Amino acid sequence: MATEADRALPRFPDGFLWGVATSAHQIEGAAEEREASVWDVFTARPGRVKDGSTAAVACDHYHRYREDVALLAGLGVDAYRFSVSWPRVNSPGGLDFYDRLVDELCAAGVRPVPTLFHWDLPASLDWLQRDTAARFADHAAVVAARLGDRVTTWITLNEPAEHTLLGHAIGVHAPGERLLFDALPVAHHQLLAHGLAVRALRAAGAADIGIANSHSPVRPASGDPADVEAAGFYDVLLNRLFAEPVLLGRYPDPMVELMPADAQADLEAVAEPVDWYGVNYYAPARVGAPGSGGAPSGGPPLPDGLPFRLREIEGRPVTDSGWPVVPEGLTDLLTGFHERYGDRLPPVVVTENGCSCEGIDDQERIAYLDAHVRALHDALEAGVDVRGYFVWSLLDNFEWAEGYARRFGLVHVDRDTLERTPKSSYHWFRNQLRARR
Ligand code: FCB
Repeated sequence: MATEADRALPRFPDGFLWGVATSAHQIEGAAEEREASVWDVFTARPGRVKDGSTAAVACDHYHRYREDVALLAGLGVDAYRFSVSWPRVNSPGGLDFYDRLVDELCAAGVRPVPTLFHWDLPASLDWLQRDTAARFADHAAVVAARLGDRVTTWITLNEPAEHTLLGHAIGVHAPGERLLFDALPVAHHQLLAHGLAVRALRAAGAADIGIANSHSPVRPASGDPADVEAAGFYDVLLNRLFAEPVLLGRYPDPMVELMPADAQADLEAVAEPVDWYGVNYYAPARVGAPGSGGAPSGGPPLPDGLPFRLREIEGRPVTDSGWPVVPEGLTDLLTGFHERYGDRLPPVVVTENGCSCEGIDDQERIAYLDAHVRALHDALEAGVDVRGYFVWSLLDNFEWAEGYARRFGLVHVDRDTLERTPKSSYHWFRNQLRARR
């Protein structure tokens, strides 16, 4: 019987961008050579990270970046999405590291695609403060001035939704605040930061700018009107709250009343046009009203008092993280966006997709990626203008509150020696990319 490893992926248009993604805090290490971030402060508090680990060393990519770029070159990807650590940029010699990394990538023929913020806010800053948005635009300008001669494609923020919900509303990520709906200014200030950064990058000559937003298609747990209403609310909170200010220049109801008083006046800046829209997709969400039946989903426990509950998606395999494997959720998500936003939706890039599993012979990951790339192709055939796909992640790394217990890499990293070993999925992806050429 043919396995996923043997089957050729469907053809994508010429120029389609194939890549892999990482983020600074999750792989760099060398924490003593930069300012502290909110994640350093958070992980130092007992009980916040499951295995008690920190990212002080992580994959030591800061010192091993040449080896990691060689892995990228060996894989044959067109592009590498990494993030620029704002605390490192603030520290002496910090930008020199990204200079070296970008040079190495360019020499290897891999397009550098930096993300300017992937959750590691300098510990001295706070997204509850509006001024952080302006500071972020300054950060974007500083990085663009240094790297803009070689970097053409930029990402402003990674997943402001998760950073708001997990970090500030329910406190399972840094900075660990449990503000529930009082966290909404954090969403607005990040979205404003995004818009101001787009302006700063364009002023520096950049012409290929996007955002990486996490999205999930949301389905009601049943046809009961209470479940349908709860699912609609969750869709607003996770999807529309972050897509609509960027794409349409407005906040959806009922969020608009809950936003800071000055938010309306900022929407023109928030909606500064992007050249493409990045979507991070892992799994759909099934949502019911608080009193509805059904097992809870595998996600983090939510506090009481929220007007929805996340429910298990039955009958699907789950990854190590407890996330259900639903490839057609990616097709539904993208065709749903295409229908909802029409010509206001710019070309789409899948900026993250992947799964956690154990082992070097990671057949589950191959099956996951194979199925999701096919689902992406279905979206393309249904008329969505999809331009790229990035696998999360190159390396097993520091998976936030899960510590090192979840392995998302195409490349295995030994936790004691930090030795890199390409997994079966790395060879699978390399062969798929080669066959395309
Ligand atoms: C996303 C994050 C990324 C990684 C994956 C598994 O939400 O952007 O850093 O943790 O999930």
